[in-house]
Amino acid sequence: MSKKVSVIGAGFYGSTTAMRLAEYNIFDTVVLTDIVEGKPEGLALDMNQSRSIENFETKIIGATTTADGGGYEATANSDVIVITAGLPRKPGMSRMDLIGVNAGIVRGVAENIAKHSPNAVIIVVSNPLDEMTALAQLASGFPRNRVMGQAGMLDTARFTNFVAEKLKVPVGSVKTLTLGSHGDTMVPVPSRCTVDGVALTQKLSQEEIDDLVTRTRNGGAEVVALLKTGSAYYAPSAAAARMAKAVIEDSGAVMPVCAWVDGEYGISGVYLGVEAQIGRGGITKVVETALSQSELAELKVAAEAVRAKQADVQSL
Ligand code: APR
Repeated sequence: MSKKVSVIGAGFYGSTTAMRLAEYNIFDTVVLTDIVEGKPEGLALDMNQSRSIENFETKIIGATTTADGGGYEATANSDVIVITAGLPRKPGMSRMDLIGVNAGIVRGVAENIAKHSPNAVIIVVSNPLDEMTALAQLASGFPRNRVMGQAGMLDTARFTNFVAEKLKVPVGSVKTLTLGSHGDTMVPVPSRCTVDGVALTQKLSQEEIDDLVTRTRNGGAEVVALLKTGSAYYAPSAAAARMAKAVIEDSGAVMPVCAWVDGEYGISGVYLGVEAQIGRGGITKVVETALSQSELAELKVAAEAVRAKQADVQSL
């Protein structure tokens, strides 16, 4: 059966995600769309011209879309859709500052996707992430397990990188985990962090771990402050592409993602960063991990913070 993924929004995040997905060589088609006329077509042409060098057969198709839903035919019957449309942060902005403008964009995109690809799995990356994921589910009308957000894998990868650099060890030696929101109530989980199997707490002092946790929590803002025009996209696109790969391969991989939580950790009725198993149906299972009392308390605080904001997006 032909395998198709669509990436909505051909900015930095969308175009790097599309390129990574094509280079996996596991999809027949990668569709890249944008509202800026010619941009997705031009990028697709450029990407296709790298096929013989990078040895992949996946075809990339660019399509300009319009506010009234024109152009979405190109995305029809996608298996997976990655929503990257929306504004990125500028220095000094929080992700939450984007909520008004990005809600309008994500709502329109999700409605159009649902019309043309009623069986797709949606992966949201637009910010503020937890709220845009909740909104995409509402606007698409899809079952909650078929809509998820990318954040935890990125935050975890940032934490891993900081630990590896601090200890001067290969990133492959380090395992970390972050849960909670993609924002102020991100919950790094030091109790699940190891270096070559040894607890991180035996390698670093509590103060050093706290510093790395703070840097992880501010990981996106640190990049924004340096770039000045736009936000991170290399590590984010790597994470989103891995999620799309897990879906299409029905791999059952367990990764930290923004998923609908329904009783796990004693929390219900909210999209929240947790570990989950991913397969062809989207989230096939939320996986509860053993947390320390303080980590669990922080996760509950995160859940209530995002619950309040997710209620707000219904009217946006
Ligand atoms: N449909 C399709 N594309 C759209 C729409 C829409 N309705 N509205 C805006 N876009 C496109 C823009 O034209 C632009 O090409 O989305 C793209 C966004 O690209 P960038 O400005 O480069 O932003 P990017 O870094 O890709 O970030 C996209 O991901 O990490 C988050 O906070 C970030 O919300 C932002 C999103």
